[in-house]
Amino acid sequence: MSETLLRVSGLKTYFYTASGVSKAVDGVSFELNRGEVLGIVGESGSGKSVTSNSLIRLLPPRTGRIVDGEILFEGRNILTMSHKELLEFRGKEIATIFQDPMTSLDPVFKIGKQMVEMICAHQKVSKKEAREMAIHALKRVGIPEPEKRMEAYPYELSGGMCQRVIIAMAVCCKPKFIIADEPTTALDVTVQAQVLDLLKDLQKEMNTSILLITHNLGVVWEMCDKVMVMYAGNTVESADTKTLYSNPLHPYTWGLLDSIPRLSDETKGELRTIPGTPPDLRLTGKCCNFYNRCPYVTDKCCESVPPLVEVEPGHFVACHRQNGEERLVRGEVTHDAE
Ligand SMILES: Nc1ncnc2c1ncn2[C@@H]1O[C@H](COP(=O)(O)OP(=O)(O)OP(=O)(O)O)[C@@H](O)[C@H]1O
Ligand code: SF4
Ligand SMILES: [Mg+2]
Repeated sequence: MSETLLRVSGLKTYFYTASGVSKAVDGVSFELNRGEVLGIVGESGSGKSVTSNSLIRLLPPRTGRIVDGEILFEGRNILTMSHKELLEFRGKEIATIFQDPMTSLDPVFKIGKQMVEMICAHQKVSKKEAREMAIHALKRVGIPEPEKRMEAYPYELSGGMCQRVIIAMAVCCKPKFIIADEPTTALDVTVQAQVLDLLKDLQKEMNTSILLITHNLGVVWEMCDKVMVMYAGNTVESADTKTLYSNPLHPYTWGLLDSIPRLSDETKGELRTIPGTPPDLRLTGKCCNFYNRCPYVTDKCCESVPPLVEVEPGHFVACHRQNGEERLVRGEVTHDAE
């Protein structure tokens, strides 16, 4: 039986700004099993990064606050950990890979020094052993001449190489959980594929769980066991990857899927997008957040927030018109909605 590693329930993370309270994450729940890869997709500003940063309580101290919910990692509540426990947890059990590897690497220290220090901080090994571990990990992630690269500064390596170094650091710590927030967006296409393949290989090898945030639905298909679609701080649909692609049910998911460029597209290079803009996050939480952009909207969509309903086993959708009782058909806009 699959074992739950992470359980997030009703997570709400708000930002308290001079212009009001922004509900960046407003009641998100999900589970991640050991060895599983969960993809989070959604447009810019939908709350993907705030969700993942909340998992390690990495929020701006004065403005960002987790106001509700529970985050259990192997049964331990991350939200009640002391600062010391949190630092140890972040260092030993979780690795983070961000879009820009330079946010994780210090530009003034050599790669080798940074890796050795990180290994020694989290494992009881000598500097010599740590150095050997670092060289082995660099070799494992496909960095040529690893001994030589240990003496390089981050700026001397390409973006793809730096991202490999970050992954090598993760390999050394054998984390149970990797948060990868747009890990390849800054890299060119061929390097993207190599880095993702590497991540997938390592995930299988170490049975690590990964939370992968991406704009790219093709990457989700390749990498993820299950997917959560976010819109304006909420989950609007979640399912295992095959189900979501073969039977997507939320109008927003339809819009995202329709935005994937296809070679056969007759739009002649024009990228299709979902018309309209996401709502102001200070004003959400009263009705379906997608109502102003949804071709299927009816009066009842504006009466309350649609709950996330399990419409088939393991497939959850938050839409008043797609909740098991009523059934929307993709492309079939009713007169009421026009
Ligand atoms: N420090 C902050 N102060 C105020 N608002 C913030 C802060 N960080 C994020 N937000 C707001 O929270 C919302 C969600 O942001 P988040 O970074 O999670 O989006 P995202 O889905 O990761 O988008 P992207 O794809 O662009 O990375 C955004 O509207 C953003 O403006
Ligand atoms: S609840 Fe209404 S507005 Fe929201 S996604 Fe469903 S049909 Fe569209
Ligand atoms: Mg982000």
